[in-house]
Amino acid sequence: MKIAIINGPNLNLVGIREPGIYGSRSLDEYLRELVDKYPQVQFTLFQSNHEGAIIDELQRVGFDHDGIVLNAGAYTHYSIAIADCIRAITAPVVETHISDVQTREAFRHVSMIKDACATVIAGFGLDSYRRAVDWLINNNATK
Ligand code: DQA
Repeated sequence: MKIAIINGPNLNLVGIREPGIYGSRSLDEYLRELVDKYPQVQFTLFQSNHEGAIIDELQRVGFDHDGIVLNAGAYTHYSIAIADCIRAITAPVVETHISDVQTREAFRHVSMIKDACATVIAGFGLDSYRRAVDWLINNNATK
């Protein structure tokens, strides 16, 4: 099984950035440990602060991977281009967030990508990523 984990803007700063919201552990380090826990899964890890680069990566992995864990960061709330891309590819995408976006500012309650995604997992801290991977494994990969 092939799973891509794609992170959007500012997620490279998790561990330093607003630790009260996102925790003080580096996402990079957490994801390296997560990958080791699933030897049966082939992972690709990607992070970019640029919308177009995220779209390029979604297109690159989206037709041959079995699932995608996507934390699009703030692009979640306004990127029609990422939503269109998720609709265009065949791999199921799990919209994933570290924080509970529904209990934060009103603008974070809106997700442009939600309807294009297979499901949403948010609010479990870094453990949201493990839950998203488990969801993809358990719902083996139909869109
Ligand atoms: C986030 C939530 C977004 O609203 C925010 O812009 C982020 C991180 C999360 O993982 O909780 O950058 O996606």
